[in-house]
Amino acid sequence: MTASAVEIQSRTLAGYADASRLRQVHDRDWVLDLFPDDPRSLVDLGSGIGQLLQAALERFPSLQLAAGLERSEHRIAEAADRLRPYGARTVLHQADLTDPEALPLRPDVVTMTSVLHWLFPHEERVFAWVGRHLAPGGRFLLTTYHPARDEHGLGGEDEIVRDALTALGADRGEVPGLFARAGTLPIATRTRTADDLARVLRPHLAVAGHLERDAVVTVDSAEQYAHFHAATFGDYYSRLVPAGQRADFFRAVGESAWQRQNERGHVSRMPVRLWQLTTP
Ligand SMILES: C[S@@+](CC[C@H](N)C(=O)[O-])C[C@H]1O[C@@H](n2cnc3c(N)ncnc32)[C@H](O)[C@@H]1O
Repeated sequence: MTASAVEIQSRTLAGYADASRLRQVHDRDWVLDLFPDDPRSLVDLGSGIGQLLQAALERFPSLQLAAGLERSEHRIAEAADRLRPYGARTVLHQADLTDPEALPLRPDVVTMTSVLHWLFPHEERVFAWVGRHLAPGGRFLLTTYHPARDEHGLGGEDEIVRDALTALGADRGEVPGLFARAGTLPIATRTRTADDLARVLRPHLAVAGHLERDAVVTVDSAEQYAHFHAATFGDYYSRLVPAGQRADFFRAVGESAWQRQNERGHVSRMPVRLWQLTTP
């Protein structure tokens, strides 16, 4: 794939089905394993291209309705294609989860995987929405990522971007200032600590338990990582550089990741928590 194709991909968040095999797909199976027996209705928040909804419909014939809420129209269109064979068992709503509208749904399962950091600092609004919509005794299964962060709040993907910007000529120490001036909040700041999240959750939901695993991303080439970055983060970080440098930016992100892969045997490793939440 040429760099300009990656730029186009980042604008539409395309290629997620392939890219998500590197990280997000593992959340999906982990979460499905914790569904109750014979669930009747499911709402997936930030449903992306509909992969979790499809997997749930296949695995649980008892599901009468599997609904997705998602902001990106590109992703909703891809999900609609994927879910067409399930007919009236599925519905997709375009929604902004930082300000979710009330819906006439009373699901016994709600899921949200690899989404919460995008809602910072307004996560409480989606927790309140779940608290109001979840059927009594229902389950909310939520995955959250917790990269280590430095004194500037950078960590996880921010580190790879910092390496890429440095390779493109930025002074390493200036990178946090670059983020601040562009209004790009570091992902490691968006991903609150588990304790901080527990405090935000508490008024709306009860914690029934949690599991933890390490998400380890490995790649076979620089191009594969550039593709993953564009499909996952879109143009969130590429806006840090002028339009004329964006093709170089995606190339540099891929090369930084590939260097880490060769030095460490992986590109990144970070703890992920699967929260099992219920109505209070
Ligand atoms: C990393 S993807 C995860 C998709 C899917 N849940 C999965 O696990 O593969 C994050 C998704 O959250 C969606 N998203 C981000 N901010 C959102 C918002 N404010 N409202 C609704 N959806 C949002 C994105 O469009 C994207 O589809």
